[in-house]
Amino acid sequence: MSTTLRHSLLPIILLQLHVALLSGEPAAAAKVPAVIVFGDSTVDTGNNNYISTLLKSDFSPYGRDLRVGPSGGQPTGRFSNGRLAVDFISEAFGLPPLVPAYLDPNADMASLSTGACFASAGAGYDNATSDLFSVLPVWKQLEYFKEYVARLRSFQGDAKAKETLSEALYIVSMGTNDYLENYYAMPSGHAARSATSASEYAGYLLGVAESFARALHALGARKLDLNGLPPMGCLPLERHVAPGGTCTEEYNVVARSFNDGLRDLVARLDAAGEVDDGGLGDGARVVYGDVYGPVEEVVADPGAHGFEVVGVGCCGATGRFEMGYMCNSASPLTCEDAGKYAFWDAIHPTERLHRFLADRKMNTTLYVFL
Ligand SMILES: *[C@@H]1O[C@H](CO)[C@@H](O)[C@H](O)[C@H]1NC(C)=O
Ligand SMILES: *[C@@H]1O[C@H](CO)[C@@H](O)[C@H](O)[C@H]1NC(C)=O
Repeated sequence: MSTTLRHSLLPIILLQLHVALLSGEPAAAAKVPAVIVFGDSTVDTGNNNYISTLLKSDFSPYGRDLRVGPSGGQPTGRFSNGRLAVDFISEAFGLPPLVPAYLDPNADMASLSTGACFASAGAGYDNATSDLFSVLPVWKQLEYFKEYVARLRSFQGDAKAKETLSEALYIVSMGTNDYLENYYAMPSGHAARSATSASEYAGYLLGVAESFARALHALGARKLDLNGLPPMGCLPLERHVAPGGTCTEEYNVVARSFNDGLRDLVARLDAAGEVDDGGLGDGARVVYGDVYGPVEEVVADPGAHGFEVVGVGCCGATGRFEMGYMCNSASPLTCEDAGKYAFWDAIHPTERLHRFLADRKMNTTLYVFL
């Protein structure tokens, strides 16, 4: 009896093993050999540790729930308690579970050849935004990327480097700081605000985004994921100034209108549109990364997604304004279980929300690159 059972099960086990091998990491890794990242704190894996700025998170309790990598539970410069969506996306493509920060002196070309992050917390599409905190503006992120391209060529050889660059996934995520830290925070004097309406400013930012996408394409990029804004008015920092702690609808309206513009831009740049119609061409694929929808869903119905707290962040005595240096190991009231929270500090998602965002993106858009 038991012999018969074992015999009849063996082919099934072998079949499952075969399927597992076929759908396993090597196939995925070959499709997207590297994840390359540009943007702000939502995607910065630690570059600000190596520049002179006040916008840092390389201290506890940031990183306290990080469970992979050489320094588990340690701060890395990620503005979260653990991994970011870009890290989960890298893993989903069969690549390493952490995307190295380009400026990290410990990141050698072997590790950077499967992923490199050029993002900088506090950055925006507008140079003036990045200058507020002395962080890496988009043009500087692009300069570092050009240097990376040259280093990759000498590391992999011209032909292989060209293939890596064209098969890599490029994730771009910024814009929130342009509004919250610049446009709305600098009412007196900032040229952007005195000269333009919020929607004209969106037009300006989208123009920079388009130039940036075209510059990446000219350097060999063919798979681009341009991410929209979250419901900015629902970040704990903005709720705390709104009456009754509700979301600040004005900021959400601005985010939705920026996102509409970004969707149009993505449709135009995508290969489906011929070069004559403004498309990037050369087989380039451009997708829109929706952040607004999933965050809105979690905020509207936390329980449905396993969250308990969405109105305040986990870190600090109040969770309403603490971030960066205000969120530190001397904050005795930091929550115990960040897994119940959507936000880690007053602005930034917890690892749990980052994981949810990554899963949703893989399910709805990035699967086209698998
Ligand atoms: C941002 O600054 C850089 C360096 O000064 C400059 O080359 C670039 O044109 C600026 N970008 C915009 C959109 O003004
Ligand atoms: C992604 O798809 C998987 C498989 O269908 C599903 O289990 C998971 O809940 C989805 N995740 C999100 C965040 O949509």
